[in-house]
Amino acid sequence: MNPANSNPSPGDAVQSAWEAAYQRFETPEAEIKKFVARLRELGADVWSRDAQVVEIFCGRGNGLHALSQLGFTRLEGVDYSPALLARYTGSAVCTVADCRALPFPDASRDILVVQGGLHHLLELPSDLDRTLAEVARVLRPGGRFMVVEPWLTPFLRVVHQVAFFPPARALSGKLDALATMIEHERTTYEQWLGQPEVVQKSLRRRFAVERCTMSWGKLRFVGRKPE
Ligand SMILES: C[S@@+](CC[C@H](N)C(=O)[O-])C[C@H]1O[C@@H](n2cnc3c(N)ncnc32)[C@H](O)[C@@H]1O
Repeated sequence: MNPANSNPSPGDAVQSAWEAAYQRFETPEAEIKKFVARLRELGADVWSRDAQVVEIFCGRGNGLHALSQLGFTRLEGVDYSPALLARYTGSAVCTVADCRALPFPDASRDILVVQGGLHHLLELPSDLDRTLAEVARVLRPGGRFMVVEPWLTPFLRVVHQVAFFPPARALSGKLDALATMIEHERTTYEQWLGQPEVVQKSLRRRFAVERCTMSWGKLRFVGRKPE
C-alpha cells in the first residue's frame, strides 16, 4: 500500500507480487540465521546490549528477531508496508513510516541497521541522500550505521545468469522467487547496482568507515556518525 494513501493503487499489486515472492524466497528461520551470521561478522558481538537499535526497511522483522537472538532488547523497526510489518511477532516497537523521514528525535538512537532496503529507494542519489541524512540525524554522535545491500560482484553476475535461465528457474523455487523479486524491483535494483560510486560516496560523506567489504554479491558496511 502506498504509505501516503490508504486506497489501493496499481503500484500496490506490484508490491503484493514482490511481497509474495519475498516470502517464498526463504523461510523466516533461514533468513534469521543469515542475519545473525551477518551481524556477528560485522562486529555486533561487541556492541553494547543496552544500545537502542533501529532496523530500518525492516519488512517482516526477521532482522529484529536476529538482533533479539543476539541479546539486544531495546529494539525498534520501521517499514512502510503494513502487510509485512503485520507478520512480525516479536517485542520490538514497529512503526509504519517512510524511511526518508524517520519518526525519531535527533541524536536519540545508538545503532541503525538496514539489510536489503536501500536498493528499493526510487531515486538515486536524492532518496539515498535523504535517507542517510535521516540516519545521521537520528544517531547519537559515535552511533553506528550497519548496511548490507546487493553489490554487483562477479558472483552476483553469475547468480543473475542462473536465475534468469528458464530451466534453472523451473527446477528451483528459490531461484524463481529471486528472479520474480528482481523483475518486480528491476528499476530500483538496476539503478542501485549501476551506481556503486554514488552509493559509496554518499555513505562515506556522512559516516566514518569502520568496516567495508564488497564480496559474494553484497556490500557490507559499518560506519560511525562523527563525534
Ligand atoms: C527486502 S525488504 C527488507 C527485508 C527485511 N530485512 C526483513 O527482515 O524482512 C525491503 C523492505 O523495504 C521496504 N521499503 C521500501 N522502501 C521504503 C521506504 N521508503 N520506507 C520504508 N520502507 C521501505 C519494503 O516495504 C520492504 O519491506
